Amino acid sequence: MAVIIDGKKISAQIKEEVKEKVEQLAQEGIQVTLAVIQVGKDSASSVYVGNKKKACEYVGIRSLSYELEEEVSQEELLSLIEELNGRKDVNGILVQLPLPKHISEESVIRAIDPRKDVDAFHPVNVGSLCIGAPGLVSCTPAGIIQLLKRSGVEIAGKECVVVGRSNIVGKPVALLLLQENGTVTVAHSRTRNLKEITRRADILVVAVGKRQMITREYVKEGAVVIDVGIHREEGSKKLYGDVDFESVEPVCSAITPVPGGVGPMTIAMLMYNCVESLKLQ
Ligand code: GUN
Repeated sequence: MAVIIDGKKISAQIKEEVKEKVEQLAQEGIQVTLAVIQVGKDSASSVYVGNKKKACEYVGIRSLSYELEEEVSQEELLSLIEELNGRKDVNGILVQLPLPKHISEESVIRAIDPRKDVDAFHPVNVGSLCIGAPGLVSCTPAGIIQLLKRSGVEIAGKECVVVGRSNIVGKPVALLLLQENGTVTVAHSRTRNLKEITRRADILVVAVGKRQMITREYVKEGAVVIDVGIHREEGSKKLYGDVDFESVEPVCSAITPVPGGVGPMTIAMLMYNCVESLKLQ
């Protein structure tokens, strides 16, 4: 029987720690403030943004909400970011993605002051992570490392295989595992003999975006499996990961469920980054 890594519990612990820190800062007269920008009314984005604001409220972070029309021009959005960059009372800026097609996400990400970039998508933060310099670390990858550490999983010296090479998860989590002295392999859609590679893993992180793709044959006995995928079955509330939980759970030593694994960690680490960003300013 594998240990089920409880992301709800670990994320709640992190939020409590952040809450305490925010209270301490408040006693020193420092208010932590996150500006959240949403463009348009995409329903999934509205749910995510709503959850982020709720988490802010819970830990005592002030959130400023900017809801812009779908048709807003890139210039207007960039000038709002510039204004927020300059505000001393705002220490974190988050622009919910995806953005409408007429706006360049890359330009928007680059416009955010890297010291206020709580998503850590700015190339300066990605570069800092790459060379091990201080900076903000993107939330989901940082959350995965916390799940491992707080579950007592040693990373140093372990064979770590990351399946998926996205800028948001695959690449940064590979860099973090490397920083923790893991031996890291990144596999992707063009990888040959994927099963052979994934079966080497002591720690297998799956972020491919394909429902239940990783079955028992991909996993070494006793491996720790982290599932970053999230897929909703159409017409139902049931959620699935990139890992076929039923088939993999009996062979691994620990596994994250979907939901309740990696998912809740992202917002907890966002709260953590809101406090961390203060140190950079
Ligand atoms: N859209 C989906 N995930 C994210 C995220 O982590 N940050 C932002 N800004 N937008 C997202």
